[in-house]
Amino acid sequence: MKIRKAEPSDAEWIRRIYLEAFEPNENALIADLAIKFLHQDFDSEALNLVAISENVELQPVGHVAFSQVRIQSNTEITAQILAPLAVLPEVQNQGIGSLLIKTGLKELSHREAGFVLVYGDPEYYRRFGFDTELAKLFIPPFELKYPEGWQTLKISDTQTISQPVEFKCVSPLNQPELW
Ligand SMILES: CC(C)(COP(=O)(O)OP(=O)(O)OC[C@H]1O[C@@H](n2cnc3c(N)ncnc32)[C@H](O)[C@@H]1OP(=O)(O)O)[C@@H](O)C(=O)NCCC(=O)NCCS
Repeated sequence: MKIRKAEPSDAEWIRRIYLEAFEPNENALIADLAIKFLHQDFDSEALNLVAISENVELQPVGHVAFSQVRIQSNTEITAQILAPLAVLPEVQNQGIGSLLIKTGLKELSHREAGFVLVYGDPEYYRRFGFDTELAKLFIPPFELKYPEGWQTLKISDTQTISQPVEFKCVSPLNQPELW
């Protein structure tokens, strides 16, 4: 399995991954979100990674995006949000999702990110160190349908957070139905 930066020419494979991995009630919405990240038509650079399988015609079988959030705070706090993430169902449970996340976190540690935010199943994200308590200090821009899924991972030794902060996301994530 190889992880590389996603390219616009990966778009149709990435769409397929999301259409197959998510339930029909939300798969088109999240596939569109992933494609928006791929085309980067907003103001800050997102990190898009794909997993390439040698067994599936060298095409992407997994994708993840990380994008910067803008925090309103008097102290220096920087954060990225992990969204979206999916792996093609036929190759799930082989460590591909974990490899995408770990590769992304390593890359972010070189980009001066202090914290990584995620909205998903704690059963899955806990294994990477994401925590629901720390997440209470990062107030999401929309009301959460599943507040228990809101989690944060600290990846910097130098940044600390003691007071709750509000933040804004890049435009593809500014859709209340995603939260
Ligand atoms: C979540 C997802 C990306 C994980 O990818 P993956 O390549 O299968 O993950 P890995 O192989 O690294 O990890 C597999 C482990 O995660 C667990 N897992 C997978 N999805 C899970 C979930 N939603 N909740 C809890 N655990 C989950 C598996 O049971 C397995 O556990 P084990 O290691 O104890 O056996 C993939 O299942 C997927 O695309 N799901 C549908 C879309 C989705 O839910 N995306 C995340 C939205 S936040």
